[in-house]
Order: sequence, then C-alpha cells, then structure tokens
Amino acid sequence: MTRTIRPAARLCGSLRLPGDKSISHRYAMLAAIAEGTTRIRNFSSGADCASTLGALAALGVRIERSGNEVVVHGQGLDGLRAAETALEAGNSGSTMRMLAGILAGQPFRTVIAGDDSLSRRPMDRIIRPLESMGARIRAREGRYPPLEIEGARLRPIEYELPVASAQVKSCVLFAGLYAEGVTAVVEPVRTRDHSEIALREFGAEVNVEGRRISVRGRPRLHACELEVPGDLSSAAFFLAATLLVPGSELLIEGVGLNPTRAALLDFLAAQGASLRVLRLEQRAGEPVGDALVRHSRLRGGVIEGALTAALIDEIPVLAVLGAASEEGLVVRDAAELRVKETDRIATVAENLRRMGIVVEVAPDGLRVPGGQRFRAARLDSFGDHRIAMAFAVAALAADGECAIEGAEAAAISFPEFFDLLEELAAGSAT
Ligand code: S3P
Repeated sequence: MTRTIRPAARLCGSLRLPGDKSISHRYAMLAAIAEGTTRIRNFSSGADCASTLGALAALGVRIERSGNEVVVHGQGLDGLRAAETALEAGNSGSTMRMLAGILAGQPFRTVIAGDDSLSRRPMDRIIRPLESMGARIRAREGRYPPLEIEGARLRPIEYELPVASAQVKSCVLFAGLYAEGVTAVVEPVRTRDHSEIALREFGAEVNVEGRRISVRGRPRLHACELEVPGDLSSAAFFLAATLLVPGSELLIEGVGLNPTRAALLDFLAAQGASLRVLRLEQRAGEPVGDALVRHSRLRGGVIEGALTAALIDEIPVLAVLGAASEEGLVVRDAAELRVKETDRIATVAENLRRMGIVVEVAPDGLRVPGGQRFRAARLDSFGDHRIAMAFAVAALAADGECAIEGAEAAAISFPEFFDLLEELAAGSAT
C-alpha cells in the first residue's frame, strides 16, 4: 500500500497510544505459564503481539481477545502442550526469541518459523545459551529460522551476553524458570528491563545486581490484572513530528516511561527539546505518565556506547530529526541496526538520500549533517514498520507531497499510526 503524506502546517491535540509492544509480549507469555486467568488491558494492537497470542494459542493456551483487552487462561508452568503445526512468529523477533526460552523447557518438540525478514535474522544468540542449558535446537545454517526446538529438563547457567539484547536476556531468564536453581545473565550494558519487572509481578524471584540479573527456577507464577502503558517507541514518532513541525504542540497521555526506555526523552531534552513529563505514576512496576511536547529547534547530538542500546529502536526517527537539527546526528556502536527488521543503517540512508539529505554511512553507524531540508520524494518502508513511520515524519517537513510505498508495514507495531498522524496534522484529535 502506498500512502501519500502532505507537508503539515502544524500538529496539535492529545492522544493515548496502544499498549507497549515489548511489555505486551512479556505479559502474554508469562500469563500463559502462570496459574489462573490474567486480564491485560491496552494490549498492543500490532501484528507482532498478535503473533505471540497465536503461538500461545497453538500451544494450548485459551485466549480471549476483545479489542485491546486480552484474557489469558494460564496453564501453569507445565501446562503447555505440543503444537500440531509450526508456530508462526511472522515478523516478530521478540516472539521467536523470547518464546524459545519457554519452549526450551518443554517436554516436547516445537518448530517456530518467521516471515522472510525474520528468516534472515540471527538466532545463534539464543541457540548458544539454550543449548548450554540442555535444549537441542536445529536452525537453517545453524543460525537462521525456522528453529526446531527439542525441549529438555534444563540446567541453570550463568550467561554473559555477547550482545546488548533484551530479547536474548529475556529468553535466558524465561528458560531459567524451567531450570532447578538460579539462572543468571550478565549484560554488557543495561537493556530494557520489562522482563525483570513482569517476572516479579507474576511472582518469580528476580535479583538485579548491577548488570547481573538472576531468576530462581520452578516458581509458581500467579495470574495478574494488568494494563499495558502506551508504547513510548510509538510515541517517538509523534514526539519527533511535533519537534519538527513549527507551531506544533502535543500531549501524549499514559505513556510508558521506564528509565531503560526513556533515555529518548533525556536525549531530546539535552538537545533543547521543550518536553515535560506530567503525572508520573507506577503501574505494575512500570512508570507511566503524560508527556507534553512543543516544537523546538534541536541542536543535534551523538549516540554511542550504552546510549545506542537504549535508543536502538528510535534511531531511524532520530536520524530524520538530525538532518533538520543545527549540528546534525552521529550514531556509533550500532551494528545491531543491521540485523533489525531491515538493515536500518541502509534503509535509513536510502530514504534520506531520496529526500536529498546528505548522509555518511559506517559499518556500525551513520552521520547526518544538520541544517538540511527535506525534498519531496517517493520513499519506501522496505517492509519495516519503523522505517515507514520515521519517513512519514520526515515527509511532514518536506517541500511537497511524498509517497511511502509499503506503508502497511506500520501495522507490525502500530496499525493506527497513519490515521492518527492525519488527524493530528489536521488539528482535530482529542
Ligand atoms: C526488544 C528488544 C530490542 C528491540 C525490539 C524489542 C524487546 O531488540 O529492538 O524492538 O522487547 O526486548 P534486541 O533485543 O534484539 O536488541
């Protein structure tokens, strides 16, 4: 589907976002192996989280969904049953990697497959720790999906993560639920800690000492009443659009502000963004609040080291902001971007260049000089949701109408995105 985006005069209004994708996956998976019925409100509307629900249903979990409310009838730690056919993770790395941790502890074999994009993404990062816990996993060329997971009685491990990845950390912690004793993960830098928070909420014993996170195996997980905070990574596109388009002002209500994700707000504020957080509260251990943002001229900045991991999903839209900033944006230590839904260094650079923006590409990053103007162009999502949305934001500031091919990719995390953007650009959303 091609979507046309006209330059925006300004964006105004307030909005609430669908539930956080990362948190929704974790709540659904833990609810499935907990005892009792978990009710999850504001569950992510994205296709990725629907893949997780579909996979859990195929493992014998009864799930009822009505709009954004999901009811999961937990089967207990040992209540899953073998799926009759391969599980379909679709485009979702989180579904495949995190669920693999649970599947590794089952007394049966499971095949889990993905779409073309996911089938090109590395899975050796989860295969290695899960095999050292006792599972056997076959993969294409030893590292690509589909995965065939032969579950086993797992033994606990102490695992030093070679890459900063919350998905891999979560995979090992979830597998640790099935091992007698304490399983620990040591991260190279801190990554999002939604699994740690959710595990505690469901009743598991989790310890965090610096970058070492451990979980005690064989807990009795209990059902919960939960409401997923609005997705900050979805909010990022609206924050960016507001900052970019003169005269804009937006209130984003009920958005997740977990410190391992909210580095985005600090990074923007440090560049001069007018941003205020109002009404901060805790919901099931997750900070939630309202964010008020106004158009601002940004200075630009550098993303490297631990900050790269903290902003990894936001780099496409931050690159767009970088081009319009005073000094531009430099991104380093971001080789992980090359193995996301697309090679995001390549797809960001390609779309920027189509808009007449100068960009330099490195193996693990990019540099976008500041003070540039966006030319109207024909853009492409390349099938990647965050690329579709990042360049819809760029298009708002272009000198004419832009077209985005493959705009339907936004539905992977945020099906409502284009309609909301249109409403806000017309100043009519409430
Ligand atoms: C996620 C972790 C990140 C992120 C992805 C969601 C998660 O991936 O890019 O969108 O929910 O744990 P990695 O673990 O591969 O860095």
